Amino acid sequence: MMRYSKRPWEILLLLSTLGPKLTQASIDLDLDDDDSIKAAARTAAAGMMDYYTGDQPGDVPGNIPDPYYWWEAGAMFGAMVEYWYYTGDDHWNNITTQALLHQVGDDNNYMPQNQTLSLGNDDQIFWGFAAMAAAELGYPDPPKDQPQWLSLAENVFNSQATRWDTATCGGGLHWQIFEYNGGYSYKNTISNGGFFDVAARLARYTGNETFTDWANKVWDWTNATGFIDDEWHVHDGADSKNNCTIVNILQHAYLPAVYLHGAANMYNIVSVRRGFGNIHATLRIGITDLPQTDGSDIWRERIEGLISGLDTFFPDNEDIMSQPCEQKKCDLNSRSFKAYLARFMGATIPLAPFTQKRLQPKIRGSSMAAAEQCNGPNNACGLIWTDRTQYKSSTGIGEQMAALEIFKANLVHTVKAPVTVKTGGTSKGNSGSGAEDNGSAIDEDIRTRAITTGDKAGAAIFAALAVLMPIGGALFIVLS
Ligand SMILES: *[C@@H]1O[C@H](CO)[C@@H](O)[C@H](O)[C@H]1NC(C)=O
Ligand SMILES: *[C@@H]1O[C@H](CO)[C@@H](O)[C@H](O)[C@H]1NC(C)=O
Ligand SMILES: *[C@@H]1O[C@H](CO)[C@@H](O)[C@H](O)[C@H]1NC(C)=O
Ligand SMILES: *[C@@H]1O[C@H](CO)[C@@H](O)[C@H](O)[C@H]1NC(C)=O
Ligand SMILES: *[C@@H]1O[C@H](CO)[C@@H](O)[C@H](O)[C@H]1NC(C)=O
Ligand SMILES: *[C@@H]1O[C@H](CO)[C@@H](O)[C@H](O)[C@H]1NC(C)=O
Repeated sequence: MMRYSKRPWEILLLLSTLGPKLTQASIDLDLDDDDSIKAAARTAAAGMMDYYTGDQPGDVPGNIPDPYYWWEAGAMFGAMVEYWYYTGDDHWNNITTQALLHQVGDDNNYMPQNQTLSLGNDDQIFWGFAAMAAAELGYPDPPKDQPQWLSLAENVFNSQATRWDTATCGGGLHWQIFEYNGGYSYKNTISNGGFFDVAARLARYTGNETFTDWANKVWDWTNATGFIDDEWHVHDGADSKNNCTIVNILQHAYLPAVYLHGAANMYNIVSVRRGFGNIHATLRIGITDLPQTDGSDIWRERIEGLISGLDTFFPDNEDIMSQPCEQKKCDLNSRSFKAYLARFMGATIPLAPFTQKRLQPKIRGSSMAAAEQCNGPNNACGLIWTDRTQYKSSTGIGEQMAALEIFKANLVHTVKAPVTVKTGGTSKGNSGSGAEDNGSAIDEDIRTRAITTGDKAGAAIFAALAVLMPIGGALFIVLS
């Protein structure tokens, strides 16, 4: 952090280096003009990609600099896949593809060796979202000798399905993949909700009932544990040491997001199966003319419920998204969580068009506020959209991504709905593979590696923190 200096030459230097670049103004945004929305999305995307150096010689593709965690890079490149789709701008495609392929790991399931010492199911699933989006959106396929998007998403799914643990809590995924990592006993909602979302998307994309069954199973379990409560609020998780009887009631924007989007995929499958027409039809007709479908009442009710539960993130009946942590301090991870609610609210509309009436005002209201909040140096986007033009200097990859995602959610009516194998999907899958990589069959060196002092310290600190405070987004990383 730069400090003000009393030495005049330093002030001069500061002014001469920073001065001309400090154009401090909000992003212009006209929500009735697609070009204006695209321009705003590009500004936010450019601000985000400014943080990325992985494409530079000597750097590692797909890594983002400390203090950011690896999972957020997966989230970021997922955003860039979708950015391309919604705007048609392929400016960052090459580095996005490079990053997504570099991090696949030895088993093509986003468990690269460099990350296994602190790898959570939630970390892995954010890369899975990116691969799944690439398949659904027809993002350019990798060269034939490289793993394909659909197979990557399937491998992530298959590896996680083998980790479903019925020994405690009646089922559920643990937060951590490896037992030796602190936090393993915690079963967190984002891991399970992310798995639910990918299962539902694979079910819709492939038509394979195995995925449908899993999506139903994960939904039922989440409901049974009370992670989704009677008021449709989605909570952080619970410790399996208590058989998940004590729910950590913390709420984060990404939790309802993944369940909402998964539910929309399930609703969409049922709609189509029931023969009420294929709503994957082109949506260029404009959002108000979207075909209404009579899908599954069960999933419709769940979607309606989850939207009601979004009141936590749109308090006071205002259509501007915020998170509870904004009243105090959001940690680095949670500074990106609004991005995923924005992404998945937008993506829900074409899959379950009846949601448009309730979701679109929230997207539009949040977009205008976010555009005003992108009021830092060079249009840097701030964290707290409800502050409107009052930029308070918190910015970063998460803030940029959140603004990007909310802007692009206004473009869902300009593109085709996600494809499936039957409606033009070209990405190749290889169902069944990847399952061997469930943590017990992983590289011997890692599995048998002695627990180090660092691990123990990490686990102890984790245990101490778990008592003192709720786990922020459950993405706490142990020392190693
Ligand atoms: C992406 O890579 C291809 C092939 O190497 C190249 O032809 C193209 O110009 C690149 N696009 C951008 C935007 O850098
Ligand atoms: C793992 O780390 C090494 C050393 O920094 C690097 O060369 C390699 O590209 C990394 N692999 C991945 C998948 O990030
Ligand atoms: C992991 O996979 C192996 C081989 O498929 C299987 O024997 C083992 O039971 C699985 N472990 C868990 C925890 O699911
Ligand atoms: C743990 O919870 C599951 C699901 O509610 C229940 O079936 C099981 O009996 C519980 N186990 C114990 C030891 O209480
Ligand atoms: C949740 O579980 C309860 C009790 O089994 C059931 O009555 C309710 O319908 C379920 N709700 C959802 C949304 O799955
Ligand atoms: C459906 O998916 C599962 C899980 O990936 C796989 O094992 C199975 O072979 C698939 N079935 C078909 C018919 O493709």
